[in-house]
Amino acid sequence: MNSDELTTTVWELDQDEFPADEPIEEQARFLLRYAILAPSSHNSQPWQFTIDEDRIQIFADETRWLEVADHDKRELHLSLGCAIENFCIAAEHFGFDYRIQYHDSGETDSIAVVTLHSDGNQSSDRPRGLFKQITERYTSHALFEDRSLPQPTRDTLHQSILEDVVSLYLIDEPGLKRSIGELQAEADQIQMNNSEYRKELGYWVGIGALGQSWLMARIAQSVVTHFDLGDRESQKNSELVRSAPIIGLLVTSTDDPPARVKAGQAYERLALAASADDLVTHPMSQILEIPEKRERLGTQVGITDGISQHLFRLGYTDESQDHTPRWPLERFLSTQL
Ligand SMILES: Cc1cc2nc3c(=O)[nH]c(=O)nc-3n(C[C@H](O)[C@H](O)[C@H](O)COP(=O)(O)O)c2cc1C
Repeated sequence: MNSDELTTTVWELDQDEFPADEPIEEQARFLLRYAILAPSSHNSQPWQFTIDEDRIQIFADETRWLEVADHDKRELHLSLGCAIENFCIAAEHFGFDYRIQYHDSGETDSIAVVTLHSDGNQSSDRPRGLFKQITERYTSHALFEDRSLPQPTRDTLHQSILEDVVSLYLIDEPGLKRSIGELQAEADQIQMNNSEYRKELGYWVGIGALGQSWLMARIAQSVVTHFDLGDRESQKNSELVRSAPIIGLLVTSTDDPPARVKAGQAYERLALAASADDLVTHPMSQILEIPEKRERLGTQVGITDGISQHLFRLGYTDESQDHTPRWPLERFLSTQL
């Protein structure tokens, strides 16, 4: 397979192919096939990995950083956290213990190192059944059904948050959801009025990262890049917010790379737990990309001591959606950065 080509075949993973009798490097490589199915902003897949025996280093690949939309690298770090979480869930599934060290990364350091121990019998606090959901989860852009979340499901979502620095807000109060929908519309307008933002989004649409066929992707790229779709997008997105029975918000107590990576891990764990309960998730980043809107969101939700890191819709839908493509793992492996 050409490692430059985006493909959906990476989703067809067979756990029976785990190379149990091979050296630990080969096993780690297999686990990374689950890591790369993680969500990332604009499906930019901004990760890079090195494997050195039982040590797996995770780096940010800044060539895939969304410099315009994600000026402070919040989404970059969250996306890496999502990939790390998939890796750890897969490691645990195949019987490893592991330890994670987080780094307050400079440009060349890894953001985290996961060390595997093969004699593992680690009992995890994660909700059960997440491994199977790694290949099932997807981001939904559908209008959600008018159906509220049962209390046990809400409890599971709260139990998915295991990091001390991360807290979860589940917002279902109609007035507050309406205000967030309005903020979303304002943020969309600002972003879609920005030609640099449109150009950046158009690039990712154009290479097919967001999942259309090649021709459709080229047409969509030119539409996104050249036309101000602000009105249409903001109306659509604010409707999507209002249709969701719940808006989730992850907040951290500090705003450094390790806290954001942990928020990414928490989000992916929650998204997988949601998927196990037939729920779908949809991150909506525009509000958080604009400092003034991010602050207003915090005030509206009543956050007195913490930083909003990730906003998303949660709900039910019958509309199925194809998986978005990924680059093959080989593209993300290097011996040294
Ligand atoms: C940090 C982060 C921010 C995201 N922001 C948005 C967003 O603002 N709007 C959106 O539609 N999807 C957003 N997504 C979802 C990605 O577009 C999605 O994960 C990617 O296209 C891969 O598709 P999949 O999640 O279905 O596998 C975000 C994902 C992450 C991890």
